[in-house]
Amino acid sequence: MHPMINIAVRAARRAGNVIVRALERVDSLTITNKSHNDFVTDVDRKAEQEIIETIKKAYPNHGFQAEESGVQGGSEYVWIIDPLDGTTNFLHGFPQFAVSIALQHKGRLEQAVVYDPLRQELFTATRGAGAQLNDRRMRVSNQRDLEGALLGTGFPFKHPEHLDTYLATFKALMPPTAGIRRAGSAALDLAYVAAGRMDGFWEIGLNPWDMAAGILLIQEAGGMIGDFGGGSDYMETGNLVAGNPKVYQAILQTIRPHLSSALSR
Ligand code: IPD
Ligand code: CA
Ligand code: CA
Repeated sequence: MHPMINIAVRAARRAGNVIVRALERVDSLTITNKSHNDFVTDVDRKAEQEIIETIKKAYPNHGFQAEESGVQGGSEYVWIIDPLDGTTNFLHGFPQFAVSIALQHKGRLEQAVVYDPLRQELFTATRGAGAQLNDRRMRVSNQRDLEGALLGTGFPFKHPEHLDTYLATFKALMPPTAGIRRAGSAALDLAYVAAGRMDGFWEIGLNPWDMAAGILLIQEAGGMIGDFGGGSDYMETGNLVAGNPKVYQAILQTIRPHLSSALSR
């Protein structure tokens, strides 16, 4: 394993321990509302601190873009961190959340870890070296089209202005599929696409830390990623389509006629 992924895994496991320990006392946590429906707790902050400290010990000069503490340090190396993806699930004791850590070098994703601390599932990828689930190679599914596909999505609960457009994409995609899941952690949704557990995924308005690690997992597992126009502006727009190559194309084609001009990339 690449030394940088080892550090990322150590950091993710430490954050996972913070999260699992806190789950027992979830009723007594102080919850702050960052914006409408956007919550943060001391657990998010503590987990993020563990991750940053672990990485800094090994790489004191690297930079960070972390959800709770923001941008730190300037370097060719930037760690993109979501310490707890699926905070709303966590707060309800709904067992679907993860730690997401990615490393960018000169703007290119190089390392990725998504860790589900409840199931102890570790999804990792290093650019050019494939993707693994608990040390076993993972691949996207072989599903050929939307007929019978299982898709994942996220609702645009922070972007009510896009709800109608989103619902139009949902209405167009649903009929042929076997089902659509909204599990509540984009990082895990993307990891599941990489592992072939879901065939595709789409969401409006993600943040870089929700998707950075999941993107590399999917690319290294043989899948495809794009913005709503099939371009590569997803980190800027937050609009993401992902899937195995065939389902990815099918999602793009199906949603295209329903997109408003604000969501065409
Ligand atoms: C959220 C989750 C959710 C997605 C939201 C994200 P958070 O992250 O990934 O699935 O729909 O867009 O903001 O706030 O729980 O870290
Ligand atoms: Ca998140
Ligand atoms: Ca988060």
